[in-house]
Amino acid sequence: MLRTLVPHLLRTAPVRLALTHGPLSSAVVDRFVAGGTEQDAVAAVVRLAGGGLRASVDLLGEGVLGAQDAHGTVEAYLRLLAVADQHGVAAGLDVSVKLSALGQAVPRDGQAVSAANAALIAARAQSLGATITLDMEDHTTTDATLTTLVQLRRDFPTVGAVVQAQLRRTEADCRDLARAGSRVRLCKGAYLEPASLAHQGRRAVSASYARCLGILMAGPGYPMIATHDPELLELTGRLVRHLDRPAASYEYQLLFGVRPAEQRRLAAAGATVRVYLPYGPDCVPYLSRRVVEKPANLLLALHAASDR
Ligand code: FDA
Repeated sequence: MLRTLVPHLLRTAPVRLALTHGPLSSAVVDRFVAGGTEQDAVAAVVRLAGGGLRASVDLLGEGVLGAQDAHGTVEAYLRLLAVADQHGVAAGLDVSVKLSALGQAVPRDGQAVSAANAALIAARAQSLGATITLDMEDHTTTDATLTTLVQLRRDFPTVGAVVQAQLRRTEADCRDLARAGSRVRLCKGAYLEPASLAHQGRRAVSASYARCLGILMAGPGYPMIATHDPELLELTGRLVRHLDRPAASYEYQLLFGVRPAEQRRLAAAGATVRVYLPYGPDCVPYLSRRVVEKPANLLLALHAASDR
């Protein structure tokens, strides 16, 4: 119910206005979004680096339908990488890209358009020692995104992708992806999916996450554990010890503004921690997913962060 209601609510004119210009804006947006420009994003990357945290920067925006808009997304990512390079933080940086923002849904040749656009970003990233990771959107795009992953990795072998534990197919995808050189970000999944395709309910999704985590951690690839769930973070720690995985062979990933004290705690304990850092003006779809995950986020941000 919340998953359908909140995105509609956040799109209504009064709430949108409050989020972007009103009293909610600095509280909610500032907590979860780095700012509106490439300079804002890179400034946040520099601040995170000062605290021993890495970043994966995401330009907010999705569902682009025109090739011209998709080109604009590419240009923005190239500017971001250039600004990061000017500030000496491009090497080791990751950028997260949504293929839908690169033209995946453009009529007729969207798959080819988005793959070609992603290749432009991957080429620039690779030349600077940065990486790119393909975000995963709803289930209608999973096959297309994994196909693009395979294509991109032929020329840019560090390209990674996200898999969503909520989807029933994901255990099999993890078996397929758990290979030497792979970079796989495991998350629970933020989209409303039908029961025929997706585990329903927190317990079932967490159980699937644990199984997928076991597969990725037992394999020779580079798992990126994207969760804030204390039990799953704890399980990861146990698997690391059991499998004797070196700290450099996996990383934790958490969202900007979510459990920042835990981010610092993991990093202080010697783990690699990467913060998913969104920026850009189009923040409503992203914020609505964060509010669906935790409705208290609206109030929580208003009362300022308790976990800072
Ligand atoms: P869960 O939602 O069960 O939360 C566990 C606990 O973490 C909560 O009890 C609370 O304490 C804390 N918490 C979680 N979310 C919070 C929030 N928003 N605010 C405050 N506290 C919160 N999804 C997707 O479909 N495609 C993708 O490409 C990505 N990419 C991605 C990258 C990274 C780095 C992360 C961390 C997450 C994603 N996601 C994603 C989102 C993911 O699918 C999922 O919706 C969120 O991570 C929330 O799930 P948790 O695993 O944190 O558990």
